[in-house]
This record gives sequence, C-alpha cells and structure tokens, in this order.
Amino acid sequence: MTGTAVSTQTAATQQVLQNALQPEGPQAQAIFGLWNFTLALCTVVFAVIVLAFLYALWRAPRGHAGTAPDLGSLARPERRVHGIVLWGTVISAVGLVMLLVADVWTARALARLPLKEAVNIELVGHMWWWEARYLSDDPTQRFTTANELRLPVGRPVLVSLKSRDVIHTLWVPNLAGKRDMIPGRSTTIALQADRPGVYRAQCAEFCGLEHALMALPVTAQAPADYEQWAAAQRKPSVEPDTDRRRRGRDVFLGTTCVMCHTVAGTTARGTLGPDLTHFASRPTLAAGALKNDRANLQAWIVDPQRFKPGANMPAHPFPADDMTALLDYLESLK
Ligand code: CUA
Repeated sequence: MTGTAVSTQTAATQQVLQNALQPEGPQAQAIFGLWNFTLALCTVVFAVIVLAFLYALWRAPRGHAGTAPDLGSLARPERRVHGIVLWGTVISAVGLVMLLVADVWTARALARLPLKEAVNIELVGHMWWWEARYLSDDPTQRFTTANELRLPVGRPVLVSLKSRDVIHTLWVPNLAGKRDMIPGRSTTIALQADRPGVYRAQCAEFCGLEHALMALPVTAQAPADYEQWAAAQRKPSVEPDTDRRRRGRDVFLGTTCVMCHTVAGTTARGTLGPDLTHFASRPTLAAGALKNDRANLQAWIVDPQRFKPGANMPAHPFPADDMTALLDYLESLK
C-alpha cells in the first residue's frame, strides 16, 4: 500500500452535472415537461384533498364529555351521496386520462429525434464498468474506449445497449431517461446534448456489490473538438519514446495485464477488462470511482480491492522500479 493521498472524487476542473431537473437536450426537456405537468396535477389533487379533509373536520359533530357524537346528523340524502361518488369518479378519470395523454405525447416527442446523421455507439455494460464502441460503416472510423462517452453538441446520438453479464441501466439524467441493458438483447436510446458540459451517468439497476461505483462521465463537446478527440482515439497507441516508457511497456506486455486488456498497436489483446489504448485521455479510473492521476493509478494497480471490493482486477504489487516504468508508459497512452 502506498502512503500517497488518494482522491476519491472525479476531476474537479469542470463542473459535473447530474440532475434530471436541469435538461440539457431535447429528450431530457420532453421528460422535464412531463415531470412538471405531473407535479402540477398532483399538487392540485393534494390541495383539494387537504381542503376537503379540513372541511370535514370543521363540520364534524362534536360529542360532549362522556357521550359519543351523534353520527346520525351526518346522514345525507341518497341522491347527494350518489352525486359525490359520480363526480369523484369522473374527476379522477379525467385526471388519469390527462396523465396518459401527456405520457403518450412525451413518448412521441422522444421518438422525434432525427437519427439519420446520428453518431452510433454500442455501449456494453460489465460488472462494473462500461465499454463504448463507436460504430461506423467504414471500418477505419471505428474505435473502442471505456468508462467515458464523448458526444458532439447538437447532433443526435443513437446508443445501442448491451450487457455482458447481468442487467445494468444507462441513465444520463441531464440528457435522457433510463434504458435497461439486458444480457442477450439489444435495446437503444437516443440522446442529444444542446450545450457543452460533463454530464454524469450512473448505472441505475442494482447489478451487484459495486453498482454504486458504476458511473460514466458523458462529455458533450463542440463538433470540432469531438472530431479531434475521435481522430486521436482511432489511432493505435503511440510507440514509447523513452527508455522508461519502453521498459514500462515490457512490464505491461510481460505480465497478466495482457490477459484482460487491449492496447491497439501492441500484442495486448485481452477483452475481459477495459481497452487501454488511449487510457491517459480519460478523466476517471475504474468507472468514475477515482480521478485519473498518477497517484490514484498506482494505488489502483497495487490494490484495486481497496477501492472496489469484488472488482475482477487482481492486485499487482510490482517492484518499485517496474511500477514507475509502468506508470510512465500508461500515462503516455494519450
Ligand atoms: Cu451496473 Cu448497476
């Protein structure tokens, strides 16, 4: 175990939003509208019921000390009772139909996003991390990353959702509603971000011990910045340019790291863990559990169970010299 202080927060350089009541795209805006309508209607129903309750208390006959109140005085003509039941039923039904119409209207608004020019992403849920494959008909345009999504502002994104093990759920509250990721099935969700920012997504279906530490930073960028990022992600890893980094790569390729991780451009082809080709360009480690910096990376490699008990990553207490070289190498994978 290292003595270095470990920050358990994600990068504080940019404000990270996670708030369904602050819509940043058309899908979230439509859901926010439905939420407001439901809140308003339920507030009216609540107010009417409280007023009726207070009225009933005020009109209730009071008994004198030692005697029961005369409930017979509450008797109403049968026609009036029928009228109250009838109107109560009609008004409740109208309220429910209004909610149904608002729900259908919202669902239609959600389906309206034009997906012809959409960015296509396949997001695969794992216990407890995210694999993101950016798809394209052109094989040279495809790439894979992990534990982060980047989107171009103002352009629809179609995310097809899969799971490698149990049911997970993608939820980016600022951008859209929830959608389950079900093993053996493919579901889809459309997103669009209208403003640049970092929106925190969270797995929203209990999927085991580290469900709470299954976060996904979603960064919406200006289209030019996004294209620049995507172009860098499509390239294989850079060739180490110093002796330390070359040694770090040898440590990486010579141990069990390669059983689980891929680094494009090397012999590492494992698929059980996150693809590390451009690992150093990501804001967080271990699906949002740690900020991606050198101290956290070292602490994570030495003892992952300290931060995420139950995670599949085994402990790797490398000798100090190997560890520094490995960190130098991993930090060069921009
Ligand atoms: Cu994955 Cu909860």
